[in-house]
Amino acid sequence: MQYRLAVLPGDGIGREVTSAALTVLKKIESLFSFSTEVEEADIGGAAIDRFGHPLPQRTVEICQASDAVLLGAVGGPKWDNLPGDLRPEAGLLGLRKTLQVFANLRPIRVFPELMDASPLKREVVEGSHFIIVRELTGGLYFGEPKERRQTANGLEVVDTLHYTEDEIERIVRVAFDLATKRRGHLTSVDKANVLESSRVWREVVQRVALDYPQVQVHHQLVDSAAMMMVQKPTFFDVVVTENLFGDILSDEAAVITGSLGMLPSASLSSRGPGLYEPVHGSAPDIAGQNRANPLATLLSLSMLLEHSFSQHEAASVLEKSVLSVISQGYRTADLAGRHHQALSTTEMTERVLAALEDQVGCQT
Ligand code: NAI
Ligand code: MG
Repeated sequence: MQYRLAVLPGDGIGREVTSAALTVLKKIESLFSFSTEVEEADIGGAAIDRFGHPLPQRTVEICQASDAVLLGAVGGPKWDNLPGDLRPEAGLLGLRKTLQVFANLRPIRVFPELMDASPLKREVVEGSHFIIVRELTGGLYFGEPKERRQTANGLEVVDTLHYTEDEIERIVRVAFDLATKRRGHLTSVDKANVLESSRVWREVVQRVALDYPQVQVHHQLVDSAAMMMVQKPTFFDVVVTENLFGDILSDEAAVITGSLGMLPSASLSSRGPGLYEPVHGSAPDIAGQNRANPLATLLSLSMLLEHSFSQHEAASVLEKSVLSVISQGYRTADLAGRHHQALSTTEMTERVLAALEDQVGCQT
C-alpha cells in the first residue's frame, strides 16, 4: 500500500513533535510493509513569515491531495499582535473548514502511571478512558446571523446556534460507530430542557439509536455532564455533543488527565483527508530546546493509521508502544517530576522506536 501524507509542522514545538512522528512513521512503514509519500507544507506563523498568510493556497492543495494531514501546532508571541484573520490560529480554523472535518475525536485517558499528575484524587480518575466526539463545523460558531447591531437602546448582539438534521445525524453516527468498537455506551450531551436545537439533537440520537441496538444510550444535560466529568469520569465511554459544549467539555476532560503532552486528536470528514494533531499548543516556553513530549503527536499518528490509512494493526502496535514506554518509566520533562530522569524529545522517540520493535517481536 502507498499513502500520501501532508505534514504541517507549524510553529514552536510543532516542528519537533512532527519530526519525531516522521521518524516513527518510517519505522512503522518498514515493520508493516507499506509506504508513505510525505509532503511538508507551512501553516500558522511559519506560513505568515514565508508567504504573508497563515494558510497559503499551496498548503491547502497539498492537504486536499493527501490521504491524511498531520499537524504540529500553531502560534506564538511573535504573531500575537496581528489582526484576527491574519493570526496563526486563523490558518488552523481555515484548514478545518476547508477540509470539512466535522467530527473532532478526543480520546481522554488517565494513564495509571501518570495519575499523580491529575488534579483529581486517584480513586476518582483511576480507570478513566473515554472519547469525546465534538461536532466541529456547525452550531454557534458558524451560525448566521452573527452580528452586532446598534439600536436606539444601545448595542445588541446575536450569535446563532444553527444545525440541520443531516449535520446532527452524521456526527451522531460517527459516535455510535465508535461506541460499537468500545464499551458500547454512548452519552449524548445537550441542553434539551432549554434549547430547541438540543431537542432536535435528542430526537436524532433516538432515531439513529434504532440502528444500533447493541449500544446503550444515555442523554445528559451539559451542565450535569460537566459536573459528572470531575465527579465520576469513569462513567463515560463515548460522549457526543455539539460544537460549543464539546469545546468546553473537551478542555475540562483534558485537565483531569493532568498530562496535556499525552493527548491526541483526530478530525474526520465524510470523504476527504482527516486532520490529526496533538491537543497541546506550540509551547513557546520550551520550543527549540528538544524538551517537548512527542507522545501526544505519536498517539495522533496512531489515530491517523487507524482512521485514514486503515492500518489497524500498526495503529494498535504504536499505541501499545507509547503505553509501554510510560509504564517502563520513561518521561519527558513535563511529566518527569522528582522521581524520573527527564528524557529529551529525541531520546523519548528512540524509546518508542525500541518499543515498536519489541511489540512486533512479541507478536511473531
Ligand atoms: P500550550 O499547550 O502551548 O502550552 C501550555 C503549557 O504546557 C506550557 O507550559 C508548555 O510548555 C506545556 N506543554 C504543552 N505541550 C507540551 C509538550 N508536548 N511537551 C511538554 N510540555 C508541553 O498552550 P499555551 O501556552 O496556552 O499556548 C501557546 C501557543 O500555542 C499560543 O500561541 C496558542 O495560541 C497556541 N495554541 C495552539 C494550539 C494548536 O495549534 N492547536 C492549541 C493551543 C494553543
Ligand atoms: Mg478549546
